[in-house]
Amino acid sequence: MPGLSRFTASLLRTKPVEQLAADGEHSQLRRSLGLISLIALSVGATLGTGIFVVLGEAAPLAGPAVVVSFALAALAALFSALSYAELAGAVPVSGSAYSYTYATLGEIVAWVCGWCLLLEYGVSVAAVAVGWGAYLNEFLAGTIGWRIPDALAAAPSEGGIVNLPAAVVVLIATAVLLDGIKESARVTTFTTLLKIAVLVFFVVVAVTAFDSGNLAPFAPAGIAGITSAASMVFFSFIGFDAASTAGEEAKNPQRDLPRAIVISLGIVTVVYVLVALTAVGAVGVDEVSGSGASLATVLERVTGAGWPATVLAAGAVIAIASVVLTVLYGQTRILVSMSRDGLMPRVLSRVGGKRVPTLNILIVGGVVSVLAALVPLGELVNATNIGTLVSFGLVNIGVLVLRRTKPDLPRTFRTLVPLVPVLGVGMCAWLLLRLPGVTWLAFTLWTAFGLFVYFGYGRPHSRLTAAANPDPTVARP
Ligand code: ALA
Repeated sequence: MPGLSRFTASLLRTKPVEQLAADGEHSQLRRSLGLISLIALSVGATLGTGIFVVLGEAAPLAGPAVVVSFALAALAALFSALSYAELAGAVPVSGSAYSYTYATLGEIVAWVCGWCLLLEYGVSVAAVAVGWGAYLNEFLAGTIGWRIPDALAAAPSEGGIVNLPAAVVVLIATAVLLDGIKESARVTTFTTLLKIAVLVFFVVVAVTAFDSGNLAPFAPAGIAGITSAASMVFFSFIGFDAASTAGEEAKNPQRDLPRAIVISLGIVTVVYVLVALTAVGAVGVDEVSGSGASLATVLERVTGAGWPATVLAAGAVIAIASVVLTVLYGQTRILVSMSRDGLMPRVLSRVGGKRVPTLNILIVGGVVSVLAALVPLGELVNATNIGTLVSFGLVNIGVLVLRRTKPDLPRTFRTLVPLVPVLGVGMCAWLLLRLPGVTWLAFTLWTAFGLFVYFGYGRPHSRLTAAANPDPTVARP
């Protein structure tokens, strides 16, 4: 049936790597980011609600062995990071996993990947914002002795009416992006260093109360508990790939992107394991799980004084806000890539007066703030994780495919094939299977909706289709 095979072939058509690279060359973005800036960008987008808040949600699942869960999640992230590094070195454009899969696995897979990235970036911003609200409240309590009442600081299913601080931080970040101010590399470096300093402060204080008795029993829920917690704390590693959304702004992307990705992952892994170990060792699992601002609570317990918790909360408020900004920016950038390819409406890449994609930012900011206001943290985290694990799985497969289809493409970084990508896919699949059924249900509906949009809009408007019938009236965005 030639009609059917033509149809299948059209779904699997790939965007030539050379065309991707050319898109990058034509980019109007300035190549200003060196290795340190790229590391700061990735670490900055990664360190956030995961360690400051989700640690507290995951600790009851695994017990003190949540430390092992962090290490397992790091391993899953590492295999995928190596695959990201290879593709970032070979296809150094913005758009991250979406662009990589477009070049390797074909349009429909790229679409699914881009659709998953809406979860990785868009939904994770909402989750990060919810964590920010918890620390804002802690900070207010420590400084002016007042907290935003629960009704206005929690999602409806958690006993509140609306999570106002979470929605507000997203709207502030939206306004900042609309003004054309994406965080400058200097500010990113500053907030990243601040975050690390705050977490080092935490470790130094918590270690003074370390009691190995708090680590027993180490794994009360066994392997099942450890892996469930690992699939939850996987959230805290999301973002190491942020450097890959800045491929068009890196001075030397082929050399620096792979390095930045791997070094960032190493830095955050060390920080997470130390923070989790000292937190649980200082006060035990029950105390760590007690509140949204779990690390601040630990400091309060350890020192018996309020100020260390307030200092930590102040650092967390600044630091987590920077994650909201960076990840929201990454989301708008991915939509610009999809829109340039014709798969999403062109208005999403239309640039307004301040040379920013105005409507894109407004839509993303609006939707994300509603999510942040109404959905509880745990559900947002799991939705983020499922989308990210699927897109990471696709990146790993992309490495294997590109090695076969373009064996001679210059690669500045080579991962060990097929071992590492295969382990990457395996780890992603394993963590995916540990996610709750309701997350899977939501994801299935989300993907079905995505395919509906693809066949209804993306496929008919794809630029690759247009390339077969060039239309001179369609200008390059
Ligand atoms: N990894 C990011 C965080 O932990 C999403 O906030």
